Amino acid sequence: MDIVNISKDELIDITINLIDKNLPLVSNLANLSKLLYDSFSGTNWCGFYICYENKNIMYLGPFQGPIACTEIPFSKGVCGKAVTSKKSILVPNVHNFIGHIACCSSTNSEVVIPIMKGSKVLGVIDLDSNNFNNYTNDDVLLLENIANLISTIFN
Ligand code: SME
Repeated sequence: MDIVNISKDELIDITINLIDKNLPLVSNLANLSKLLYDSFSGTNWCGFYICYENKNIMYLGPFQGPIACTEIPFSKGVCGKAVTSKKSILVPNVHNFIGHIACCSSTNSEVVIPIMKGSKVLGVIDLDSNNFNNYTNDDVLLLENIANLISTIFN
């Protein structure tokens, strides 16, 4: 995919400038969901799920796009796989991913990036597209850099 109108370095710079450690987490994530939604072309849903380790569930955080699933057990879906494997998961065709959770029936591809602090997964960034193969390995690397920046605003 293309990053709309800006370079990868500019997206990193904008992310750094948008993050305000004096704000509540929810306020930062709200603006970041909009930034990423607008920046990755072909995206129809972009948002965060926040991990509640004591319950083995992640809950829906700020997002852009259609109404989505509010809770995802760590054992389910692409998001769950990203949390339990502690790895980014790139899914070129969600119909081939066994256990994919179809929050939105128009979605055809997806990428999920864990937000890590040390070895702990705090949450995930999830981007969905109606296009097949919308996201690339380069996107994963860029989103992993962004996830590192975002990890600094979690307590
Ligand atoms: N497709 C995800 C669920 C979240 S929605 O896409 C917003 C999954 O399989 O974990």
